[in-house]
Amino acid sequence: MKTKGAVLWGVNEDWKVEEIEVGDPVAGEVQVQLAASGLCHSDEHVRIGDIPLVEPGGFPFLGGHEGAGIVTKVGAGVEGLAEGDHIVLGFIPSCGRCPSCSSGHQNLCDNGATLLTGQSIADGSYRASVGGKNLSPMCLLGTFSPYVTVHNSSVIKIEDDIPLDKAALVGCGVTTGWGSAVYAAQTTPGDTVVVIGIGGIGINAVQGAALAGAKRIVAIDPIESKRERAMDFGATHTFASMTEAYEPLVDLTWGRGAEKAILTVGRIEGHMIQEMLTLVGKGGTGVVTAMGQADAVDVPMSLFELALLQKRLQGAVFGGGNPRYDIPKLLGLYRDGQLKLDELVTTEYKLEDINKGYSDMFEGKNLRGLVKYGPEDY
Ligand SMILES: NC(=O)c1ccc[n+]([C@@H]2O[C@H](COP(=O)([O-])OP(=O)(O)OC[C@H]3O[C@@H](n4cnc5c(N)ncnc54)[C@H](O)[C@@H]3O)[C@@H](O)[C@H]2O)c1
Ligand SMILES: [Zn+2]
Ligand SMILES: [Zn+2]
Repeated sequence: MKTKGAVLWGVNEDWKVEEIEVGDPVAGEVQVQLAASGLCHSDEHVRIGDIPLVEPGGFPFLGGHEGAGIVTKVGAGVEGLAEGDHIVLGFIPSCGRCPSCSSGHQNLCDNGATLLTGQSIADGSYRASVGGKNLSPMCLLGTFSPYVTVHNSSVIKIEDDIPLDKAALVGCGVTTGWGSAVYAAQTTPGDTVVVIGIGGIGINAVQGAALAGAKRIVAIDPIESKRERAMDFGATHTFASMTEAYEPLVDLTWGRGAEKAILTVGRIEGHMIQEMLTLVGKGGTGVVTAMGQADAVDVPMSLFELALLQKRLQGAVFGGGNPRYDIPKLLGLYRDGQLKLDELVTTEYKLEDINKGYSDMFEGKNLRGLVKYGPEDY
């Protein structure tokens, strides 16, 4: 079918909304009409060249990986999904059978290996194209288009009563942030948790830490409005930088430092690791969720402190969560009023305004920007 999509033709180019072709589902796939797509920072890492696309894929690239919608077509051999089902797209596929999935780590599913190649899980070919050229879709999804054809392992069925535009955010930002606090940091009641960077991911780390029973939640962001919003989501203290937070944090914790810190800045740099670990006390954990330049390896840090103060440095993809378990669970918390989703969306955009959406993100105007699709897009 002919539709439209926000396409990148090379590093540092602007997003270009143009006519694209989305193919019918082959065996194992479904087609989805999307209600909305969140504007996550990770797509911008591709745009500025931090995250390289992997051969044989490459540009042109179709962005977007935070979407939800309604199944419109079902390919052969797909079990448990039917036309009309409401679904969220997980940005990591979960096959349910590989060693990672079957040991409870769906976020590390072996199907993730091809996410940046653009090659479909079903048969290694491409399902979307622009001007006759194959498109590599972000995370094999490409939600910056009103329609996607995706593998069933990226599709999580949800209840019909959940608003789809809010559910979209749970496909990446909400679960990644919430899980970074609950699973990766293993926040327990009474902890002091520091969240560094209050965007779409960090704000959900704040609400995850609050739900897990943290006593103090220290939110750090240079932008004042982000610090104010963090208080609405459960933060107890805010600071403009890690340096500014250090002394008050020592004071607050009777000299012990935080139990947990979570790094969710827009673009991570090596020096931030030591700064984060300095805020964490003996036996504490620092979680790295943020991304930066993919081939950067320099991290100046005190190995002496790491060893003798027995600190833990923990990476986290999808917050350490399981898409098939955690997406429905978090939507259940939303339904019961225990998780905020409505308050996350600062601004809604048309797909045509996507460059404005991302420049607003960089200017710190949005907790989360959302592209919302309507009848005029279908
Ligand atoms: N590991 C994963 O699974 C995963 C998933 C999604 C996103 N991410 C990554 O998480 C990061 C955050 O994404 P987002 O969508 O929330 O981005 P965002 O741009 O919405 O938010 C980033 C926030 O960090 C703040 N910030 C920047 N530098 C800072 C600093 N030095 N100290 C404190 N705060 C600072 C910004 O003001 C902004 O509020 C990105 O790097 C993204 O690629 C990782
Ligand atoms: Zn994301
Ligand atoms: Zn798997």
